[in-house]
Amino acid sequence: MNGLESKDRFPVGIIGGTGGMGQWFARFLEGEGYPAIVSGRKAGPAPAEMARLCPAVVVSVPIQVTGQIIREVGPFLKPESLLMDLTSLKAEPVRAMLEFSSSEVIGLHPLFGPGEDSLAGKNVALCPARGEKWLPWLRGLLESNGARLVETTPERHDEIMALVQGINHLDTLALGMVLMGSGLDRQVLERFSTPILQTKLGIIQKVFSNPDLYAPIIALNPHLRQIMGLFERKFAELRRIVEKGDPEELRQRILQEAAGATPGGFHFTAAPGR
Ligand SMILES: NC(=O)c1ccc[n+]([C@@H]2O[C@H](COP(=O)([O-])OP(=O)(O)OC[C@H]3O[C@@H](n4cnc5c(N)ncnc54)[C@H](OP(=O)(O)O)[C@@H]3O)[C@@H](O)[C@H]2O)c1
Repeated sequence: MNGLESKDRFPVGIIGGTGGMGQWFARFLEGEGYPAIVSGRKAGPAPAEMARLCPAVVVSVPIQVTGQIIREVGPFLKPESLLMDLTSLKAEPVRAMLEFSSSEVIGLHPLFGPGEDSLAGKNVALCPARGEKWLPWLRGLLESNGARLVETTPERHDEIMALVQGINHLDTLALGMVLMGSGLDRQVLERFSTPILQTKLGIIQKVFSNPDLYAPIIALNPHLRQIMGLFERKFAELRRIVEKGDPEELRQRILQEAAGATPGGFHFTAAPGR
């Protein structure tokens, strides 16, 4: 294992380990036999002390303060240590980890929330940025627990997250705002709701209940601007058709869109004969 034997059970420091994802990661590591030392604003070791105690330090704090925390801990880490983060955006945190430390650096994004019991079948994005020693250890730990790893650059990760999280959650927010703005009574809406709407109401509730998480994921992704432009153009196209009140034109547009998808690109299939 390039000098890191799996029998070595060293402590891992988690700054933000009192929060949702940090607690999740601490439980996961402890399940694998690695003692987790956690900290929050009012608990646990200060960043410099964390770096002294732990050969691997993970940053799992709100996106807006991630850069500041990396600046506080990075200079205290040794070149042979690991600095890693769990942030939902990767370009800025990875850039800061490289700049403010001389340690090995890996960006990690678990593509799920802290409510999950196990890693089995879950997607995890990895952005290896500096060093060779820690990567096999991390890969082994995640893969042996059934995670599906995808390795990429921080920039590509953020580009893809503009779709996976940015426009997806923005669309959820807009639908929630439309439902609330309509003035319809919640009880009436529920009595008239279909299973699809009920599923969507659950998703809307989830996004509205955690603005601290979703607002930066949406507003700090620089790639989202381009996707919002595409969204507006597609919505305007659909609106023009809907305003004509012609279902056949809309049906043809759906068929055309499905048939004209970029070869090899993501597409939905349409069933014309139904
Ligand atoms: N939640 C998710 O679904 C999810 C999924 C994947 C990745 N992530 C990423 O994981 C990271 C943490 O998210 P989370 O949902 O776990 O957030 P969270 O539950 O709010 O936890 C945030 C943690 O950061 C600490 N913290 C808050 N403000 C701080 C500050 N100014 N200085 C130092 N520490 C501070 C908190 O400590 P105290 O409150 O104890 O002071 C807490 O331990 C984020 O970067 C997020 O993008 C989240």
